[in-house]
Amino acid sequence: MKVDVLLGLQWGDEGKGKIVDVLTPEYDIIARFQGGPNAGHTLEFEGIKHVLNTIPSGIFRENVLNIVGNGVVIDPVLFQKELEKLIPFNVDYKNRLLISKKAHLILPTHRLLDAASETAKGKDKIGSTLKGIGPTYMDKTGRNGLRVGDIFSPNFKEKYDCLVEKHVGILKHYEGFEYNLEELEGPWMEGIETLRGLIAIDSEHYLNKALKEGKKVLAEGAQGTMLDIDFGTYPFVTSSNTVTAGTCTGLGVAPTAIGKVIGIFKAYCTRVGSGPFPTELDNEVGELIRKEGNEFGATTGRARRCGWVDLPALKYAIMINGATELSMMKSDVLDCFDTIRVCTHYIINGEKLDYFPFDITDSEITPVYEDIKGWNCDLTKLTSYADAPKELKDYVIYLEDKLGVPITVVSVGPDRKQTLVNN
Ligand code: GDP
Ligand code: IMO
Ligand code: MG
Repeated sequence: MKVDVLLGLQWGDEGKGKIVDVLTPEYDIIARFQGGPNAGHTLEFEGIKHVLNTIPSGIFRENVLNIVGNGVVIDPVLFQKELEKLIPFNVDYKNRLLISKKAHLILPTHRLLDAASETAKGKDKIGSTLKGIGPTYMDKTGRNGLRVGDIFSPNFKEKYDCLVEKHVGILKHYEGFEYNLEELEGPWMEGIETLRGLIAIDSEHYLNKALKEGKKVLAEGAQGTMLDIDFGTYPFVTSSNTVTAGTCTGLGVAPTAIGKVIGIFKAYCTRVGSGPFPTELDNEVGELIRKEGNEFGATTGRARRCGWVDLPALKYAIMINGATELSMMKSDVLDCFDTIRVCTHYIINGEKLDYFPFDITDSEITPVYEDIKGWNCDLTKLTSYADAPKELKDYVIYLEDKLGVPITVVSVGPDRKQTLVNN
């Protein structure tokens, strides 16, 4: 069998959690391959909303295994809290959640370093989620990191102390940055104890064996393509490869083992944190989208920046990921618009571009829009795509034509059931 992949094509928060949950009954294993608690994936069913950060979004479905892959970074404190939130729902995470021994650990000092670095950057800050993601991946590539497998070693505490000492040395360079490490270390060590009670595996072996045995695997992306460390709007990105290639390195599966690549995007566009956003609407239209879409971060509660759909960015994301099908999310958020705008090109320095240039951080970008007629009715009660208004179908056909990839799922509300399949 092959590994199917579901990942974000924009700047994150596209609705990955919802669609992974919807697709989970078709799979045996759901595996996260990158990112960490910077992610906030929302699932809604039976009137309850759940937000997952590090745990894969298949966790609420019985008979499905969930794997936290080697490419993920884990904060033991936040991980423990996430597990505790599952208890009232009788989720058997002790048997259905497996953690790669090669996943890296976020130390309390990684979070401090993230905060110190952001403060020092002032107005140029990345707008990070302050979860210690950047510093942890820096230690991974710098070959200093601690991994889940290390927590079973008799000299784990020594390794921990050695890395913390290094971090404390670095923190000294951030003048005036104050912290109380002892306060953070107690809960962290408790979290480590909890991790020790979970099943730690060599996930690359586990997954490859499962594929050979005919098991179906869905890889769940975090963040989005435009936040990818290599292909996103650098330096305003996260620190991992969020694209399809990240599945191979983050789970230990070969490129030849990749099956379907489901790219997911909103019927408009959002971004949280700093960095360029060509179609951003810093006006009452953007406000209306934020209000209708309840565009506030699932992890940090920050207001998300809102704008129209951006075809040059989407085409770029589809190319990098090799997306084979698309899911269009939050279509219902546009119910109240007479006209929907779509950015087809950018004008940068007088030049018309239909692709994403090297660096748009300091450029003046003027998006070129095409206007599409809105459907102007309530989509949230729809149960079949066949019954969708003509204008919505026209919008889907228009996007499919421009993007060259079929839109197989149209989402019309946050609930599991508010999902239309376009065959
Ligand atoms: P993720 O990070 O990609 O999993 O997305 P988030 O959970 O951060 O953000 C998506 C938000 O939109 C969540 O609050 C979802 O419950 C909600 N959502 C998902 N799909 C839809 C949809 O089709 N319509 C509406 N109105 N909300 C949706
Ligand atoms: P999900 O998986 C949206 C953004 C942050 C910041 C930048 C770097 O829910 O889609 P980091 O903490 O990773 O160093 O922050 O990336 N960011 C996200 N934005 N959704 C996410 O995850 C994000 N994870 C990180 O806001 O701009
Ligand atoms: Mg999110």
